[in-house]
Amino acid sequence: MPARPSASRRTVLRGAAVAPVAGLGPAACAAPGGAAADATPTAPVDLGGESGVAKGGAKLYRDRNVVVSRDASGALKAFSTICTHGGCPINKLQGTTLICPCHGSRFDAATGEVVQTPATEPLNELPARAAKGRIIVGPGA
Ligand code: FES
Repeated sequence: MPARPSASRRTVLRGAAVAPVAGLGPAACAAPGGAAADATPTAPVDLGGESGVAKGGAKLYRDRNVVVSRDASGALKAFSTICTHGGCPINKLQGTTLICPCHGSRFDAATGEVVQTPATEPLNELPARAAKGRIIVGPGA
């Protein structure tokens, strides 16, 4: 008489069947045709002249998936614009509010905080500095 599969074997198989589904979230949100759609800088990048971001304003660098903001004193902040809800690249900036095209989450470009769900986690902050009149953003900046 053949032995029945043990409970532990069934548990392992059930876990294996579920695992691939978990990876579909961000992929399902990927921008069409965007080869580097989910990439943020992994090294310092030069985003151009400091004058590109006004005091109290923000600028979206869509090709870099970065937003740079400047407070009233002129201090720079930068955030990844990969949405923390499902990984979509955010492609719209209204004033200093970032709007995700996938499910409508909104973020404050000055702080990275969520101002409208479904996202609940703030954007990832990136190092940013000004050097010789240029804005440099990314790890090691
Ligand atoms: Fe869902 Fe941005 S991926 S709101």
